[in-house]
Amino acid sequence: MAAVSPERFDFSEEELLESGGYDAPLLANQVRCHGGFDARGEYRSPRTVHRAPAIAAWQARLAAEGHELIRLDPALMPPQYPSVAQAKLLLAEGVSDPIVRALTIISIVEGFGAIIRDVPVPDLRASFREPVGGTALAHLGRGLFEAHARDEAGHRDEGGHKQLWEAARDLALENPRVPGDVLMRIMGRRAQRQRRRLLPELDADLERMLATMATVLAVEIFAARTFDWGERLLSDPEVSARPEEAGAMVRYIRSDETPHVEYLRTALSEVAARTLRTVDGRILPGRVAVDRLMHANLRALTSERPRENRADVREGLADAIARAGRGDDLLERLDALETPWTPPARTGFEPRDGDPAAPAHHGDPAALA
Ligand SMILES: [Fe+2]
Ligand SMILES: [Fe+2]
Repeated sequence: MAAVSPERFDFSEEELLESGGYDAPLLANQVRCHGGFDARGEYRSPRTVHRAPAIAAWQARLAAEGHELIRLDPALMPPQYPSVAQAKLLLAEGVSDPIVRALTIISIVEGFGAIIRDVPVPDLRASFREPVGGTALAHLGRGLFEAHARDEAGHRDEGGHKQLWEAARDLALENPRVPGDVLMRIMGRRAQRQRRRLLPELDADLERMLATMATVLAVEIFAARTFDWGERLLSDPEVSARPEEAGAMVRYIRSDETPHVEYLRTALSEVAARTLRTVDGRILPGRVAVDRLMHANLRALTSERPRENRADVREGLADAIARAGRGDDLLERLDALETPWTPPARTGFEPRDGDPAAPAHHGDPAALA
């Protein structure tokens, strides 16, 4: 493996997709998956030989130029429903359907991550007033989106996170029956969500790319909570048939997620440090665009989405309990384990000075410069 000079900011697509060699492959329930083990038996994530140092170099450059990386308040992350304690109670009582469903949803949503490679990348030199050479932004369409897609959905004969989660579920819960309507219900819910334009002053492709990145960044960061839930549950010998293997599987997935979070927050921070060109020949501070997208996303992910998820689980819960031959008292015991959660009042990305759409500045032409 060639050492990467810290001064290097440009990488080819092949380099960003390079995994290097492994001493042993990662097999998940007999499925060959990405990544593998080095001579010491340590897991190494796929496609990180150059991608990891590249991201570190772009971050160092941003810091050297006096810009901060965007951060999300961890208090914004909603808890998983059912919680680990609630999930354990259900499994112990033989009500495994809601847990199998939750784990299957995770695997499907991981697979959806592949859509990131279909996001058109507009001409970024025309989109920004400042240069974009040698940044994460300049590499989105040249390896970063593709590496991300492969990590999530697998590539060729190698499984990715989708297959790893299926394996973790099947090992821990001994090849459970998977409800047939999981995908359909996710699709139905997605179809109901309306996408409205938050940055109508920008070219539609540019807005679509930035909006997708902001959404995926928030989802990736929030997934840490869900994955922690999965790891704790599936590595618990009281409920998991293969606690060590299933728990390790989730840990490998979690370590693969680091580059996703890091390249997206780097690229969005690079946007925030720049100036966007609008379709009518004016400009929009990149910071305003990023704040507007992140604020809207975080509002949805901390309010409607946890309510929706909970309602969805509750809908099938009474049925699943009845099917398992358990009584209503189980629902009561489950509810007694509940700790209420309210999202923080602020997302940390509230509109601030310089946003022409912010209430205090509405219609202020000076803000558009
Ligand atoms: Fe993933
Ligand atoms: Fe990811």
